[in-house]
Formats: sequence, C-alpha cells, structure tokens
Amino acid sequence: MSTKLQKLIEQRLAKLPSSTDAFRVSDGLQWPGVFIDALADRLLVSLRDTALPPELKDMLKATGRPVYVKRLDKDVKEPPLFLCGPEVPLRFVIRENGVLYLMDMGAGYSQGIFLDQRDNRAELRSLCCPGMKVLNTFAYTGAFSVCAALAGAQTTTLDLAQPCLSWCRENMALNDIDPDDHFFCKGDALHWMDRFARQGRKFDIIVLDPPTFSRDEKGHVWRVEKDYDHLVWLAAAILAPGGRILCSTNCRKLSPSAFRRMVSAGIPSAKLISVPMPFDFDGEDYLKCIWAQN
Ligand SMILES: C[S@@+](CC[C@H](N)C(=O)[O-])C[C@H]1O[C@@H](n2cnc3c(N)ncnc32)[C@H](O)[C@@H]1O
Repeated sequence: MSTKLQKLIEQRLAKLPSSTDAFRVSDGLQWPGVFIDALADRLLVSLRDTALPPELKDMLKATGRPVYVKRLDKDVKEPPLFLCGPEVPLRFVIRENGVLYLMDMGAGYSQGIFLDQRDNRAELRSLCCPGMKVLNTFAYTGAFSVCAALAGAQTTTLDLAQPCLSWCRENMALNDIDPDDHFFCKGDALHWMDRFARQGRKFDIIVLDPPTFSRDEKGHVWRVEKDYDHLVWLAAAILAPGGRILCSTNCRKLSPSAFRRMVSAGIPSAKLISVPMPFDFDGEDYLKCIWAQN
C-alpha cells in the first residue's frame, strides 16, 4: 500500500522531467518543521524545532531508500546522520534537467546543491550561448557555472573556499566539460568584482547569490539586508551592455519589496523581473530572485 510519503514522491515526479531525480518532496506543509528532499535514490530529512514524527519515520523506512536526517536549528551546523535503509556511499550523483551534480552526505552541513535554484539554473542555461562570459560569484559547488558552460559560455567561478572551486571542477568534468577551459577565482567576491572593474573586464551574465552574511578580505562583516545594493552596484560596473544579473537571496529578514528596492538602487537603469520559487517549494516563500537586465 502506498503511504502519504510515497504518494507525495509520485506526485512530484509526475510534474518533473525524467531527467530530474532531485527535488523537494515535502516543504514543511505536511509535517510542520520537516523538510524532505529526494536526492537520486536517497532521502534527506531536515528538521527545524521539531523531532521526527514517529509515523513519518515508519513511512521513510517503508520507502526502502537510504534516509539521512539533519537539524536546521543548531548553532553548530552538522552533516546529516544516516537513519535507515540500505548502506550506500556518501558520495553519489544526482540529475537535474539532465545535468549531473556530485553530492556528498559527508561533506558537511550542505550536500552539494541548493535545489531551490533549479528554475534559475535552467533559465541561465537557456540564456547562454557560445562566446558569452558568465561570472558566478559565491559559487559554492558551481552548479550555475556548469549550466552556463554546457550552453557554451565561458565561465568565471568565484568562491572564498578552495574546496568549493575543486568541487565545481569535478561537476564540470562529470558533464564532459573541461574545467581547464574555464576560470576559477579564490577569494572575496567584493574584492574580485572591484578588481575586474579596474581591469575593465565585462560579463554578459553575473550570478549574485550570497550567504546572508560574510566577511570581506579585511575582515569587515557585511550583511545582505544592509549591503546587497552595494553588491549589485559592484556587479553593475562589470556588466556588459544588455547584460543580466541574477540577484538572489534567502535572507528571511528582507521582504520581497525591500529586496527589489535594493536591487534597483544598485542598478537603477535595469528592468527587473521577479521569479517565483520552483513548484515543489510550496511552503514558506523565503527565496527572493530577480533578473536585472540592462
Ligand atoms: C549560499 S552559498 C551560495 C550558493 C550558490 N550560489 C549556489 O546556487 O549553489 C554561499 C557560498 O558563498 C561563499 N562565500 C561566502 N562568503 C564569500 C565571500 N565573501 N566571497 C566569495 N564567496 C563567499 C561560501 O564559501 C559558499 O560557497
């Protein structure tokens, strides 16, 4: 007999192309504080301010899939723990619209991809063509870079963390892209964008999806709710004529209208198009995304 969880998985799968096996199964609506992602054959359960409901635990076991659980409400961010199902390697590959991404349940708090950016990755890929230059700032594992490179663009991938850049190179290689044909910059995004401006470099598309707070190279803390307009301003200075900036934040303190005002302040000449979250993220509307076009 099919459980409520299995029915949810089937409903989501029916709306996704067969080339996608990573998606949000449950977004806090069915079980408050419980978020479930399907990552290929694995399930990842994230808990915020709640314990795993016993009836859900039974349903998770009944799927026969490997299941991992992590907490979203702890100060110390820990990797997921194995809960039940067959023992499988920690490293594995998911598919999203036919693009392959390496996941790692043992890598830390995040497993390698932010599923809520799926539609933006697809849009970026559709906008890119050979000869275009794409800058992916705060790149994490470079999922946006992979999509741009698959469409023939030349990518520059920028992150503070060298392991993220190495992971991006692995993601490219998985998709038969030679990472040596692309650029990788380690360091602070603000510093690099300022440097690109002084060098007169321009990009056709820039992805700006930072964490809610970070530090610049001199140790100054910056926060999305205070400083996002400055980030957009730095990106606008290196945007080619007719270029686009994908402005995105998951900062819950910032309302959609306040975020739009900040984007507009950073690039007053641009036409702004807000885009919704993917259909499987049907709980809280936390992700704000705007395509700003010059
Ligand atoms: C929320 S993730 C970005 C997710 C990514 N845009 C994606 O869609 O996969 C934040 C990333 O920003 C990087 N980061 C944090 N502060 C940074 C800074 N000042 N300059 C460059 N990268 C930074 C982190 O190392 C991390 O990989």
